[in-house]
Amino acid sequence: MQLSEEKRYRLLVDAIVDYAIYMLDPDGMVSSWNSGAQRSKGYTAEEIIGKHFSSFYLEEDRLAGKPEEGLLRARTEGRFDTEGWRVRKDGTRYWASVVIDPVWDDDGTLVGYAKVTRDMTAQQQGKDLLRKSEEQFRILVQGVADYALYMLDTQGLVSSWNSGAQRIKGYTADEIIGRHFSTFYTPEDRANHEPERAMRISVETGRYEKEGWRVRKDGSTFWAHVILDRILDGEGKHIGFAKITRDITDKRDADMALVEAREALFQSQKLEAVGQLTGGVAHDFNNLLMAILSSLELLDSHCRDDPRALSLLANATAGAQRGAALTQRMLAFARKQELKPTRVDVRELVRGISNLLQRSAGPTVTIDTLFPLHINDVLVDGNQLELALLNLVMNARDSMSEGGRIIIATRPETIQHEPHRTGLPAGHYICLAVSDEGHGMDTQTLQRAMEPFFTTKGVGKGTGLGLSMVHGLAEQSGGRLVMHSAVGRGTTAEIWLPMAPLQVESTMEAAQLPSEPAASVVPSEALTVLVVDDDPLIAMTMNAVLSNMGHQSLEAHSGRRALELLESCGHVDVVITDYAMPGMTGIQFAERVKERWPTLPVILASGFAEVPEDFAIDIFRLPKPYGRAELKRALEQATR
Ligand SMILES: Nc1ncnc2c1ncn2[C@@H]1O[C@H](COP(=O)(O)OP(=O)(O)OP(=O)(O)O)[C@@H](O)[C@H]1O
Ligand SMILES: [Mg+2]
Repeated sequence: MQLSEEKRYRLLVDAIVDYAIYMLDPDGMVSSWNSGAQRSKGYTAEEIIGKHFSSFYLEEDRLAGKPEEGLLRARTEGRFDTEGWRVRKDGTRYWASVVIDPVWDDDGTLVGYAKVTRDMTAQQQGKDLLRKSEEQFRILVQGVADYALYMLDTQGLVSSWNSGAQRIKGYTADEIIGRHFSTFYTPEDRANHEPERAMRISVETGRYEKEGWRVRKDGSTFWAHVILDRILDGEGKHIGFAKITRDITDKRDADMALVEAREALFQSQKLEAVGQLTGGVAHDFNNLLMAILSSLELLDSHCRDDPRALSLLANATAGAQRGAALTQRMLAFARKQELKPTRVDVRELVRGISNLLQRSAGPTVTIDTLFPLHINDVLVDGNQLELALLNLVMNARDSMSEGGRIIIATRPETIQHEPHRTGLPAGHYICLAVSDEGHGMDTQTLQRAMEPFFTTKGVGKGTGLGLSMVHGLAEQSGGRLVMHSAVGRGTTAEIWLPMAPLQVESTMEAAQLPSEPAASVVPSEALTVLVVDDDPLIAMTMNAVLSNMGHQSLEAHSGRRALELLESCGHVDVVITDYAMPGMTGIQFAERVKERWPTLPVILASGFAEVPEDFAIDIFRLPKPYGRAELKRALEQATR
């Protein structure tokens, strides 16, 4: 049977049940209807033909003029394509994909519109579900506060941002989206192309994982664990990166504290072992030296009329005494020293020797002190602590060849939890810290600095017993010496000492005691003595002895400085000078003094055989080592 073309076409359109295909006349009245239309909209052809197509629209869309707008756009633009809610005959809604095409006849008159509508509800539901799950995922990612979760595009520009990222890095999404993720790196890492490296590794291997310092918006840094995952689309094309960053500063701190505590334990065990050895050796040595010194003293009376032998003897004694001084420091390190602990106000102690410290440090070094208004006493041997402080200040000075600043600070510390990084038991402590801005130490030097005889200052310059002594004193006093240092960043040496128990009554008692009679020991012939010695320890001892004898004393650590002092300080009765000093020897210095102040007596204190015998000026000799009696005699002689 031959079908007309129109009939065939009609059948075709009617057979399509998935699409509503129908015509509208130029006014929007339905003029044809297919089975797909009936199926999706629920009207039969009889019911709907001749009705306006706006009855398929939602009430609000009708009121908004959507149907007319659709026709107008189809007419003017040649086609109108949209999606939206439509209403079935029974009032239920469905999501429709709609195309409206205008139909023109040959002479260009509008004959109507072809309308194709598809029920997309199922697809829309799928999309809704997807949107919902994406939304949920977004809320989930947003809600993660402990991790910064965000995305980068292929160039490394931030393209999404969660609350964790904001919390950890400090930027809001508005501030950071579109910026390059290298913003979070330190300037050094940026200069080393770390961000690019991370992206490259992630692109090549799929993932990059590392720990490192990152920078927050406010410029502060945190230790971050970072993962950078490559993201590929369905076809395997690289479309960006997922970045997960966690702030693990606390964990790192805890790990480091553990490592430090272990290291401290190892160091203290090592020092303990070395200490026992040193203590044993020093003890025997000390006995030997005592024997040598007493024999030398006895020999002295046998050589009175042999000046050559006498001076050799003096040399031997000086050497033995120097040995004894070293042994003292070794004993101090081994905690075998006889200490006389008393209550000491550390601030007072530092103030008391601040002049000495400043003089030992030299003019290019400034010493500043930082003390709290109130600080508890410590229990320690005051003299030894002074010596320890002097050792630390000299080390600080030695590290600053160009000069600089030393800060001596005290602060109270409480250790509540063990293990503590110092290795000390829980309790209250006072920490006395000496900081410098010198060349600092590398890790190996720092580890060995307290070992006896460890020195980087060269043979004859450092004994390597300075810090050993400080360490021993701190330990023997129930505290610790803690050193912090890094190359180029200076050094801080902290002496931790246990706080003395509060003693309210006894201080009150002390306050009620009649005060000591004023120093009636000042002899009538009290002198002003200028002591010149490049070794601050000797100068300090001399000072102590002189003031104990009732004299006043001034100190200079070089001939040049002594001359300046003599110019500026007014009255001096007598000068005692060392012979071997850098820059100007004791003799050269004495010559300058005699030129300028011919009547000022000069005593040359020296144990060196190389002092020339035939110098022209009139000076007194005081052979080293000398005791109180010899000193007294020399002073009497010189000022007679
Ligand atoms: N403040 C500091 N700055 C840099 N390095 C230091 C500092 N203090 C100590 N050191 C290092 O530790 C080493 C040991 O110091 P220690 O005081 O025990 O001996 P020394 O200073 O070398 O000798 P001495 O104390 O007899 O003059 C020093 O040689 C030096 O390398
Ligand atoms: Mg030293």
